[in-house]
Amino acid sequence: MSIRSEIIGHGHYAPKKVLTNDDLAKIVDTNDEWITTRTGIKARAVVEDELNSDIAAKAAEMAMKTAGVSPKEIDLIILATVTPDNTTPATAIKLGAMLGVNPGVPAFDMSAACSGFVYALTMADNMIRLGQVKTALVIGSETLSKITDWTDRNTCVLFGDGAGAVVLRATEGKGTAEDTGVLSTVLFSDGTHYDNLRTTGGVSTTQNAGFVTMDGKEVFKFAVTSMPQAAEEAMKLANITIDDVDWIIPHQANIRIIEGVAKKLELPEEKAIVNIANHGNTSAATIPMTLSEKIEDGTLKKGDLIVLTAMGAGFTWGGAVIRL
Ligand code: UT7
Repeated sequence: MSIRSEIIGHGHYAPKKVLTNDDLAKIVDTNDEWITTRTGIKARAVVEDELNSDIAAKAAEMAMKTAGVSPKEIDLIILATVTPDNTTPATAIKLGAMLGVNPGVPAFDMSAACSGFVYALTMADNMIRLGQVKTALVIGSETLSKITDWTDRNTCVLFGDGAGAVVLRATEGKGTAEDTGVLSTVLFSDGTHYDNLRTTGGVSTTQNAGFVTMDGKEVFKFAVTSMPQAAEEAMKLANITIDDVDWIIPHQANIRIIEGVAKKLELPEEKAIVNIANHGNTSAATIPMTLSEKIEDGTLKKGDLIVLTAMGAGFTWGGAVIRL
């Protein structure tokens, strides 16, 4: 017997205001054809008067509702984000109070950029398997529009705002790949790529958040090798092969990256879930948003074996195998 972290609830939220590619063509020198063919993105949501904590709360409330748990049952909150409300305290702590989680419950933010949700899921799963907590709220939530340079066509067409969440609960498993819940996780980082994708500022450097800047080609190259590698290592750890996998949910940064990942894994393309068209890259939120939206529309079903894989600034990367 072993303890597993079962995914018992899911939630997602995107702000109401939508910027289409045609809207962006009025701001910078770009066009719908370039953005669509190079990235797969058609539109992205952006916050108006909402903070990160507000959109995270919407996704978290839906996750608790679908799980059928009250905020009083939550005993851990991890919020993956690079766009917190304030530099300190962690937005996860504010979120706990907003949701009505019991005072005393541990809560912290996870900064691992686009790999943030996989990192947060790993931490929550480890704490559950150690018996430290029973019911965890794990959220990926971003207001990337606040760190986007809206005059830079190289980056502003890529990003969007949104939030996704899951509720994990400790459950007894056999310790085999037949179990439901999180079956394996793997995490990596390599700081020699620090400058390839970062913000232009930060507390210790410029005293302001700055804007996202990147070497798109380097990020692309690294993504198409690191994401399959993470997926493969997670599958190995879970004792499964690609033939066992029902779906892969890759971080949603670019449809061409997703196609490259599927090809490298020798996975039929239709098994790689693409959810980028209406959201763009929402960093730590892409995986939980996609997971939740695809459970809601019936694509993902109870018992499905799913591989998650992500890569982001740092560079960070990581993977997980889950069974719904
Ligand atoms: O989550 C991790 C975060 N980021 C990523 O994963 C992004 C990874 N990288 C990418 O997705 C791609 O590298 C991009 C989508 C960012 C760029 O695609 P690309 O095929 O590598 O294009 P490129 O940078 O080589 O640019 C090709 C051309 C350039 O013009 P010239 O120099 O060939 O005349 C760019 O100036 O496209 C131009 N360009 C644009 N044109 C219209 C760059 N951005 C735009 C734009 N609209 N928005």
